[in-house]
Amino acid sequence: MADGAPLLEARGLTVVLGGVRALDGLDLALAPGLRTIVLGANGAGKSVLLRTLHGLVAPTAGEIRWHGNGRRARQAMVFQRPVMLRRSALANVEYALAVAGVPRPVRESRARDALGRVGLSAVAGRSARVLSGGEQQRLALARAWALEPEILFLDEPTASLDPGAAAEVERVVAAIAAAGTRIVMTTHNLGQARRLADEIVFLHAGRATEQTAADRFFEHPLSPEAEQYLKGELPWK
Ligand SMILES: Nc1ncnc2c1ncn2[C@@H]1O[C@H](COP(=O)(O)OP(=O)(O)O)[C@@H](O)[C@H]1O
Ligand SMILES: [Mg+2]
Repeated sequence: MADGAPLLEARGLTVVLGGVRALDGLDLALAPGLRTIVLGANGAGKSVLLRTLHGLVAPTAGEIRWHGNGRRARQAMVFQRPVMLRRSALANVEYALAVAGVPRPVRESRARDALGRVGLSAVAGRSARVLSGGEQQRLALARAWALEPEILFLDEPTASLDPGAAAEVERVVAAIAAAGTRIVMTTHNLGQARRLADEIVFLHAGRATEQTAADRFFEHPLSPEAEQYLKGELPWK
């Protein structure tokens, strides 16, 4: 990749779902190496944006370019509520590695290593479905991290967790970023956004109205919609 070339660039990204323009000509470039937090009121298009960038939703119009040359980045996505197989925590990570084509002999060691990095070694053999919400979310992060993604999309990963569990998930996300994975995450927790973000992308009505360094954004957002959002005047669309 050329120096400074974006990891990914979306141009005119439009997604119509059930007659709703969830994304409406959105432009976005993601430079390598940063942690991006996507903010915006409910219904602004945050989830659809992440799902579309991750390839789960096909754009109606517009394009997504990876690396300037079309090679899709190795990537993973974590959702608000993880879906776990009715098997052990370890087996859940091993399964993800199998699906990704990782050879069987190295799966267990890679899975155990990932569980260790999120602090779940002690529950490796326990059924994933009986883990607490916070443990399940860290398991989802281990499953994603084990794939060694270049970019990780996280859609409100702490929204259904209590503050303690949310803080643990936040620490893991920071560690994943520090280990070199590009982070693109949505949250409604502004404290969390301040702690984790290098830059903020603010969405309004299916468009990115600004993309600003995080410290500048919280001091002085550029778009009036973002200013209202920060003041809490736009909790709903
Ligand atoms: N499957 C769908 N069918 C119809 N409309 C949808 C669908 N998914 C999302 N939308 C609409 O697209 C818009 C953006 O949704 P979403 O990305 O989920 O917002 P956010 O995550 O910012 O709260 C909303 O108006 C939502 O109702
Ligand atoms: Mg959402």
